[in-house]
Amino acid sequence: MTFRVAQISDTHLSERHPGFTANFDALVEHLRAAKPDLVVHTGDVSAHGELAGDDLRFAKRKLDAMGMDYLAIPGNHDVGNDPGLGETPANAERLARWKDVFGHDHFVRDVPGWRLIGLDTLITTTDLPEAEAQFQNLACALEGAEGRSAGLFLHKPLCEEAMAEEVITYWSVQPGPRRRMLDLLAEYPPAFVASGHVHQWRDRGVVEGLRQVWAPATAFIVGDTWQHRTAGAGKPVGYVEHLLHADGRHECRLVQPAGMATHDLGLLPGIYAPMRRLAA
Ligand SMILES: [Fe+2]
Ligand SMILES: [Fe+2]
Repeated sequence: MTFRVAQISDTHLSERHPGFTANFDALVEHLRAAKPDLVVHTGDVSAHGELAGDDLRFAKRKLDAMGMDYLAIPGNHDVGNDPGLGETPANAERLARWKDVFGHDHFVRDVPGWRLIGLDTLITTTDLPEAEAQFQNLACALEGAEGRSAGLFLHKPLCEEAMAEEVITYWSVQPGPRRRMLDLLAEYPPAFVASGHVHQWRDRGVVEGLRQVWAPATAFIVGDTWQHRTAGAGKPVGYVEHLLHADGRHECRLVQPAGMATHDLGLLPGIYAPMRRLAA
């Protein structure tokens, strides 16, 4: 038996941004035909959920209306970012707002032959009690997998290029929590680590002992004028289909549903702060 997971990411839903909603609707139309066994959303479900507004509830209504089994973890636009990165840090108030709408900010789901684990990577550098509890839960979830293969879902990727990176960037899990996660993963290696956030598609294969998969965004890309294209990465919109074979084998592929527009955030002023052109 093969269990099919559709990993969708970065839908940035808001009633104020109909173009992003149209991309989501096209994606859902495709998913209804493809009939995955489970949809996993790897964060930035909303455009401005980190601010006090209605975007989280709007996104929840849209996800519920898919009529499919789904799990979601938050992104920086849902619960705020790592403290020190920007004006809206993840904190108790923002996390409570997420939980009020979506329930949990992390998950464990067992499917045939597999244990799927979703984490909230935005709280890992906060001093919230939930941050420590999440590490404990991760340790328990990995230890208790009992012969199942494990698949990890994150918003931010573990690193950009190398696990030894020490520079704090907008794009990946910070070095401190990354080391702590890697210590746990070294003992119980997952079959893959799948993430969103970068708005680039990248199947790196096994790197530093971990298969790392970056899902493309649903809502928009950030064009090369404003965001470096990571080596080996592409900038489509779409989703990732993961095939989880009951014997532990894992395959994945990029899917680009018809009707999704490749919006470039750099050409959409007013949605977020103006983007700066990269130096030539
Ligand atoms: Fe995003
Ligand atoms: Fe993000």
